[in-house]
Amino acid sequence: MNKESNDQTCCQDLDDRRSFYARLSMILSGVIGALIVLPGIGFVLAPIFKKTEQKWRTLGKVDAFKEGATVLVNFEDPSPEKWAGVTAKTAAWLRRVDDAKFIAFSINCRHLGCPVRWEEGPELFMCPCHGGVYYKDGTVAGGPPPEPLDRYQVRVRDGNVEIHTAAVPLTTTLTFDKS
Ligand code: FES
Repeated sequence: MNKESNDQTCCQDLDDRRSFYARLSMILSGVIGALIVLPGIGFVLAPIFKKTEQKWRTLGKVDAFKEGATVLVNFEDPSPEKWAGVTAKTAAWLRRVDDAKFIAFSINCRHLGCPVRWEEGPELFMCPCHGGVYYKDGTVAGGPPPEPLDRYQVRVRDGNVEIHTAAVPLTTTLTFDKS
């Protein structure tokens, strides 16, 4: 009887220990899994919640731009990461309409964000990815883009053309903050 009771106590202890270690192992696995996955999720979601800085950037002297011409201009992103290097550079299509009026179009297609190019002859913006086409004023002429090209604000200050940088719309659901 005594031996039987001892055996039962021993088995009970063993079961308790096993279930304790099983639970401990599950908890540790969960913690390790979270430590691996959470930084990745944070990295992916951070740009959605981060408010992008907006700044005026100088593009050049007014006289450097010919009236009626649409040219590619390069400038630095509104808030480049310290490690961004050359990827901090972005671009826009700038048109000098008259003496003091400029229009700056985003180079990013409103379908999936590919860079559009300006075709001087037919006066169209063409997207190389899926055949999106935009008229001279940025409105959609054909293809999959659902909306016109985005525009940046432009101003002339002290003889320089300045562009108001903003976050690049990565998809058709994101738009510039015009405030
Ligand atoms: S990204 Fe321009 S048409 Fe698809």
